[in-house]
Amino acid sequence: MFTSISVSRKGASDSVAFAHFQGEKPDSRTLSLAAGLGLKDALLAAAALPEATGDANALAESFSAPTKSTPGTRVILIGLGDKSKFNINALRHAAAVLGRRVAAVKGRSLSLEFDGILAATKSDPHAAGTAAGEGLGLLAWVCDQFRGKATPAPKRHALSLRSSDADFATGLTRGLALAESTNLTRTLSQTPPNIATTTFMADQAKKLARATGLKIKIWEGQDLVRERFQGLINVGKGSIYKPCLIRLEYNPPIAKAAKPAVLVGKTMTYDTGGLSLKINNGMVGMKRDKDGGCAVLGAMHAIATTIKPRRRVVALLAVAENSINEEAYRPDDVITYRNGVTVEVTNTDAEGRLVLADALCWACEQENPGYIVDLATLTGGVITALGSTYAGMFCDHDALRAKIESAADAAGERVWRLPMHQEYRDMMKSPIADILNSNPNRKAHAGQGAAFLSYFVEDKIPWCHLDIAGVHVAEKNSGPYIEGPTGWGVRLLANLIDAD
Ligand code: BES
Ligand code: MN
Ligand code: ZN
Repeated sequence: MFTSISVSRKGASDSVAFAHFQGEKPDSRTLSLAAGLGLKDALLAAAALPEATGDANALAESFSAPTKSTPGTRVILIGLGDKSKFNINALRHAAAVLGRRVAAVKGRSLSLEFDGILAATKSDPHAAGTAAGEGLGLLAWVCDQFRGKATPAPKRHALSLRSSDADFATGLTRGLALAESTNLTRTLSQTPPNIATTTFMADQAKKLARATGLKIKIWEGQDLVRERFQGLINVGKGSIYKPCLIRLEYNPPIAKAAKPAVLVGKTMTYDTGGLSLKINNGMVGMKRDKDGGCAVLGAMHAIATTIKPRRRVVALLAVAENSINEEAYRPDDVITYRNGVTVEVTNTDAEGRLVLADALCWACEQENPGYIVDLATLTGGVITALGSTYAGMFCDHDALRAKIESAADAAGERVWRLPMHQEYRDMMKSPIADILNSNPNRKAHAGQGAAFLSYFVEDKIPWCHLDIAGVHVAEKNSGPYIEGPTGWGVRLLANLIDAD
């Protein structure tokens, strides 16, 4: 939509946005702000238009008086809906609506003057600016590297943002930076599986490490055998693109003497289902089965460049392609993990949990984690349960769950708790090995996934499993998202680490 977006401290903008609530006129603080900018008449004119209802995202526009050489300033009054229900997530959405409008009228600069409504709702200007910056930065994501000669290049230009509120403007800069990290994740998600192979993912992680100073280690080939990463080895056998485990580490200059946070991502570069092949078009879109890992990469980018926490953060990406050849692993195979747990494979399409198990074992055994959060496009079942509205959250540790919920809330990335129970764990018991990778009874698929993973996490370690199969992709243009990958989880994880 825009070639780039930046925040500028000086000058005037060709569009200036103010806001009001449903059924209310712009408040006195907003009016005096407009007066200071010489825009009071234009704002009053906009507010008098019938479309100035204040309904969420309703727009009303007017211009200040033009001079011979200038066209006048476009004043945009945006509605924020019901005042009593307002929170800063509404601003992320509103900023994206403003961005779409400014792009449509080919605007080059936009001021966001929300002081009045922030004061009226006792909202923090920095957090509000962050949400608005995120909304605009997410909206601006473009990925046209896969367009060819048959598509004319769209004309785009840069957008500069301003705000007379210095805290809001600082927030905008932070929001844009977090959106940039998220957009990195979205571009990886969008990259097709013939390009985004397992080695491509390793190269991307190396590139990120080089650019940001993160430490990196990659286990591949014989390293996997030596470390007994049997999930990766078995799932990866059916592909010419070899599996690997990627470890990234953020080491702060001044570290708190705390245990590291460990972020784990399912990174299936393609999921055909393996020999339990996906049917009826169920395979389309499975290039995005790497989105858990892509979100963790984006979060590490944000951590290294924007958040810069005082806590150590370790990322583990379990990377493989679930495909078919004569060496492919099969239903009936038994896999022995490094923690001693044996798994009978009943369905090669339940592959994500098999590779995550390696990373979880490693994390518990080697990283001394303060807590572990894993992100995975793990089950179709979570889409049945929660649609694209919430990610499924499995976490029985109250303090960690509270932290995840508040990080999710600030990011506008919704999570909903789903249950863990011994009965689900019992459902995973195998007649010949310790556990199965999928119970054919078709019950509680998302819960089965979490129950399986729990066999690889030590009891005393706080752990949260986020099943993102419903939320990692948007079916249509909506809010700050355009149809395609959402980069879900990057900002949640960044907020989580920031609050630590
Ligand atoms: N990657 C899929 C889950 C998925 C489905 C993600 C749809 C995004 C959209 C996962 O590997 C899978 O195939 N899960 C199976 C598990 C089943 C065989 C136990 C599922 O959910 O159907
Ligand atoms: Mn699968
Ligand atoms: Zn999968």
